[in-house]
Amino acid sequence: MNVPTYVRNTALRAWVQHMADLCQPDDVYWCDGSQQEYDEMCNRLVEAGTFTRLNPEKRPNSFLARSDQSDVARVEDRTYICSVSKADAGPTNNWVAPKEMKETLTKLFSGCMRGRTMYVIPFSMGPLGSPIAQIGVELSDSPYVVVNMRIMTRMGRPVYDLLGDEGEFIPCMHSVGMPLEPGQQDVPWPSNKDQKYIVHFPEDRSIWSYGSGYGGNALLGKNCFALRIASTMARDEGWLAEHMLILGVESPKGEKTYLAAAFPSACGKTNFAMLIPPETMEGWKVTTVGDDIAWIKPGADGQLYAINPESGYFGVAPGTSEKTNPNAMASLSKNTIFTNVGLTPDGDVWWEGMTKTPPERLIDWTGQEWTPDCGRKAAHANARFTAPASQCPSIDPEWENPQGVPIKGFIFGGRRSTLMPLVYQAFNWTYGVYLAATMGSETTAAAAGAVGNVRRDPFAMLPFCGYHMGDYFNHWLQFGRTIPNPPRIFSVNWFRTDKDGKFLWPGFGENMRVLKWIVERANGRAVSIESPLGWMPRYEDLDWTGLEDFSADNFHELMSVDRAQWNGEILSHEELFIKLYDRLPKEMLSVRDLILSSLWRSPEHWEI
Ligand code: GTP
Ligand code: SPV
Ligand code: MN
Repeated sequence: MNVPTYVRNTALRAWVQHMADLCQPDDVYWCDGSQQEYDEMCNRLVEAGTFTRLNPEKRPNSFLARSDQSDVARVEDRTYICSVSKADAGPTNNWVAPKEMKETLTKLFSGCMRGRTMYVIPFSMGPLGSPIAQIGVELSDSPYVVVNMRIMTRMGRPVYDLLGDEGEFIPCMHSVGMPLEPGQQDVPWPSNKDQKYIVHFPEDRSIWSYGSGYGGNALLGKNCFALRIASTMARDEGWLAEHMLILGVESPKGEKTYLAAAFPSACGKTNFAMLIPPETMEGWKVTTVGDDIAWIKPGADGQLYAINPESGYFGVAPGTSEKTNPNAMASLSKNTIFTNVGLTPDGDVWWEGMTKTPPERLIDWTGQEWTPDCGRKAAHANARFTAPASQCPSIDPEWENPQGVPIKGFIFGGRRSTLMPLVYQAFNWTYGVYLAATMGSETTAAAAGAVGNVRRDPFAMLPFCGYHMGDYFNHWLQFGRTIPNPPRIFSVNWFRTDKDGKFLWPGFGENMRVLKWIVERANGRAVSIESPLGWMPRYEDLDWTGLEDFSADNFHELMSVDRAQWNGEILSHEELFIKLYDRLPKEMLSVRDLILSSLWRSPEHWEI
């Protein structure tokens, strides 16, 4: 094996040799992360039929990939947390004993890269050298993964330098699980239809992913490392690794407030992180630090500081438009990789919701001719764009500050067509942990399986917590005890519908009205009144300039708390609590009782 002289790390060299012996690739390629390398790799992906180059006049330096139709989303039922003890993985994770899983993986990975190249992908999650950042190295036989990792992480030669001789890194093994026999023709999207394994060893701090080339299954810096492994590191070391966007809000007076918000997959993090306030809300401005993951550490001054460990957006394409998210549209205007969207006759991309009138014809995500009336979707519901964060017009000037940005508040929000009010503030940290812990959301296309079922998704971390969810709640409670003035905690819901299924709230840019109230509250201002669930704004406490036709009655309906519905909701909290019984913090039951008690001393249908 030829190792470049600038790769000095002894453990890295030994591990790559060991893995090459196991996987038997035709060669090993050490990525340097240069533009030239990226361009060459993209050209080769075009030759292989994985990529289609888009029209350079419409979408410079951009590509479309169509995945295999069986490899389009995260596979939660194939995702494992292999801690030594089953109890440490907890009832919300799949578990297999590490020894047994390692035997399975060793068999699967033996010779799995025959006929392919093994790429060594060194990356930093977070600005290079930041005290909050961490280093990983992914070994993958997928050039698609290499080019995506170059956008999503700080990837390349400076990472080898930072690692030096003895620096530590998280080893991330990835294979599409489709070795090629001599002379065998490759397919545009290699994957393994029968066997997929997304495996985490929290004690070893290592990741093994087999059989999928898609998104979170294959770009291992993202949720495998930055959430599942990092959440266990954060528990051990006293910090937080969260499925949260980070945004900055600037008031007309120039006051800057940073907030972090956890919404489940495909529930609006990217949109909220890039929000453009209505024109009538003069002087308010939102800036973007991150759209999916936040790593948060207490600073010496007692405040919490957050970084975005990623450097790109792996965003949901359908629904993204100049109307709903102009900043995302600008971010993906060039240097972007699209996966599973439609291809227009003039060599550009299209997806449902991008424009009001669809193109007359295009090639859909499965490669077939498509017309608006053909009865199929042009883009897969979990089609994604991979775009550099630096291209986002609303990017925050501090987004690469190695020290992070100070967080004043946490927002939690699921996709709920009923029952959850537009916004409320938890009475205190413990109530906040309760509302986050019991968050419910309708399932989306981000994971394989049925869509639209309400499930508990605590902290939007159900698929991403690397240890027992009860311990995770405890970690949050304990965390709040160690900081002098913990951030305020809020709940939002943009997705409540009327009896005809129409959204009651206009959403998107209009969410600024809610955000303004949250910012004022987080800074210890703004009026609120006590509701059965927490502090709430009255109609007159929100800024309605430019949206005067949204009546007080609409607002009251959006904010109402219905006891019968909430009784049912609390029963489903209870189901989660029973599941987590052996490690559930006792505070959860106390808060549940207090909420029940205030529901029972309020009118059956409470309106603000
Ligand atoms: P992951 O990348 O999967 O973690 O998800 P995300 O939370 O970043 O998802 P994203 O922001 O891309 O969510 C996209 C979906 O949310 C689309 O279906 C949007 O139409 C919908 N959405 C986002 N914001 C709003 C809103 O304010 N109102 C409504 N009704 N829908 C919204
Ligand atoms: C999510 O599902 O929450 C994502 C997309 O952010 S993926 O990276 O595919 O997991
Ligand atoms: Mn996500």
